[in-house]
Parts: sequence; structure tokens; C-alpha cells
Amino acid sequence: MKRLMKWAGYGLAGVAGLLLVVMGGAYAVSEAMIRWPVARPKVQLVASTDPGAVARGARVAKLNGCQDCHGERLQGLLFHDEMPIVRLWAPNLSRAIAEQTDAELDGAIRHGVAADGRRLWVMPSSAFAHLTDQETADLLAYLRTFKPTGERQPRIQVGPVGRIGVLMGQFKSEPDMIAANGAGLKLVDLGPEHAQGRELARACVECHGQSLEGNKLAKSPDLSIAASYDPEDFARLLHTGIAAGDRKLGLMSQIAPVRFGGLTSEEVAALQGYLKARAARQIAVADATSQPVQQR
Ligand code: HEC
Ligand code: HEC
Repeated sequence: MKRLMKWAGYGLAGVAGLLLVVMGGAYAVSEAMIRWPVARPKVQLVASTDPGAVARGARVAKLNGCQDCHGERLQGLLFHDEMPIVRLWAPNLSRAIAEQTDAELDGAIRHGVAADGRRLWVMPSSAFAHLTDQETADLLAYLRTFKPTGERQPRIQVGPVGRIGVLMGQFKSEPDMIAANGAGLKLVDLGPEHAQGRELARACVECHGQSLEGNKLAKSPDLSIAASYDPEDFARLLHTGIAAGDRKLGLMSQIAPVRFGGLTSEEVAALQGYLKARAARQIAVADATSQPVQQR
């Protein structure tokens, strides 16, 4: 009996040891994936210098929520704390701006590669990849108006559950996402009359997906939902964050007034016009593909 217990003890120790080796291995592999080197983007952009640049850049920053994560004075902050998945600090941009060239900043903003060659994982570069050169040059002009302030922020931390997500390919680095999306905007082109709406809809891609199909991680819906909105309700959602039926939502209610509060009623109408046309097109495509079934 005693001997049996002893062997059982060895067995347990063996299992525990094996588990440690597996966990250590998984940690090492995920760490390698997080730090895997990435080719430096070839960019040569320089900040705009014309008189209107700073004001235009401020609008780009607002629509894309730079200060939601990086802070009002770009000092950086802990903006998401969800261990054992992740603990996310946005870096102190006011210092990065002082230390980096325009092209290095653009490398992070539109290509997902930090100035030191690190791949970015959280910074939504895959959404900002759709900014034009002019918009990015204006954005840089605005960013350069900030003075260095505050301390350096810690790097993002990826917990055990987050690492499983990395290993299973559920979380991808921004350069990988940009490569997977390929060149060009995934938002369906619905003709010149919807060009302005489509341009504005780029500001929704970060959370609603590259073609606005909704995003499981962000728990956001397909934006065909906007077609069912009254124009007044849609404007109220974007300007105040209150959804149709007087509902207060989560992240959407937080960010809408800050990012979209300044959109004119004409811009809001153009955006909804595009989303409605997109929804109508989805229905038309679904009808067309289901027709052969009906005919049988
Ligand atoms: C969802 C939050 C979020 C938003 C929105 C966001 N960032 Fe970031 N940003 C981050 C995080 C987190 C990092 C660094 C860690 C990582 O992504 O791996 C980062 C990194 C950066 C870097 C690299 C800094 C360095 O350390 O060298 C730059 C530059 C940057 N962001 C600029 C911007 C600009 C400009 C905008 C708006 C157009 C913006 N960010 C919007 C979260 C955000
Ligand atoms: C920072 C992330 C983020 C951005 C950017 C964003 N959304 Fe959302 N949105 C969400 C989330 C998350 C939800 C789901 C509800 C919630 O949790 O707030 C949502 C829900 C919605 C809804 C559904 C409201 C309802 O009735 O339930 C609409 C419509 C919407 N968003 C429109 C937009 C439009 C249009 C844009 C771009 C101009 C946009 N969103 C940009 C995160 C975002």
C-alpha cells in the first residue's frame, strides 16, 4: 500500500512537472510570437506645414480616438485592465513625438511598427492604415503641437489567457492584420454619391470591422443596424451616445460624443446614407444568392 502511494506520488509529481514544462513552453512560444521581428515600413511622410494643417489634424485625431487611449495631453495611461487576459497602457505619446521623426511616427500609426522595430498589438494601426497621406501629415502637424509631459508608461502586459489567444491566432499583431487585409479599403464602394459617407465610415472600422461586418472581440454589431435607425435617432446616437429607444450602450456610448459629437448634421446624414445603401446591397446580394434555391 505504502509503495503504491509512493508510486502514485511520483506519478503526480511527473504530471505536475510535465504541466510546468508545457506551460513554460507555451509561455516561451507566445512571447516569441509577441516579439517576432517585423520588416520596417518604408515611409517618408513629413508633417504638413500649411496654416490649416493643425485644425485638420485635430479633427483626424478626434475622429480616430487618439486621446481616448493616449490621454488628453497624450501623456499615456492605463486604459484597459482585464487580467488574466491583458493589462493595457497606451504609451506616453507626448514623449514619443519629441523623440521620433515624422516617418517613424507614421510607421507606428499606419503600419503598426514602433520606431524601435517592435510590432504593435493594440494600437489600432490596421484601422488607421486607411488614413490618406494628407490626413496623416495633418495629424502629425497636430501631434507636434503637444509638449512632452508626464512619465514614461509601462509596456502592455499579456496574461495567461491572452497568451492562449495569441497562440490560437485569435489575437494578431497589427502588422499581420494589415498584411491580411491587403492594400486598399475593404468598405464596399457604393458610387460617388456615397463617397463622403464611405470616407467617414473609416472611423467605425476600428471596432465594427474592416467591412463593418461587426467584431466578436469588441462585441459590436454589423452596421447594417444603422439602416433601421430614424435619422434623428442616428444623429442622437453619434452626438450623445444614446441609442434608439433611449438605451445607454457600453463602449459606443462612451466614445460617440467624444469622437463623433463634432460631426455636422450633413456629415451624419452622409454616413447614414452610406450605411443604408450598404445594408440594401447586402439584402440584394442575399436575395440573389438564395434565388436558385427558391426556383427548385
Ligand atoms: C485603442 C487604444 C488606442 C488608440 C485609439 C490609439 N492608440 Fe496609439 N497606441 C496604443 C497602444 C496600446 C500602443 C503601444 C502598444 C501596442 O500597441 O503594442 C500605441 C502606440 C502608439 C505609437 C507608438 C509609440 C511608441 O512607443 O513608439 C504611436 C506613435 C501612436 N500609438 C499614435 C497614435 C495616434 C496618432 C492615434 C490616433 C490616430 C492612436 N495612437 C490611437 C493604443 C491606442
Ligand atoms: C471604439 C469602438 C467603436 C467605434 C470607433 C465605433 N463603435 Fe459603434 N459600437 C461599438 C460597440 C462595442 C457597440 C455595441 C454596444 C456597446 O457595447 O456599446 C456599438 C454599437 C453601435 C451601434 C448599434 C446601436 C444599437 O442600437 O444597439 C451603431 C448604430 C453604431 N455602433 C454605429 C457606429 C458608427 C456609425 C461608428 C463610426 C462613425 C461607430 N459605431 C464607431 C463600438 C464602437
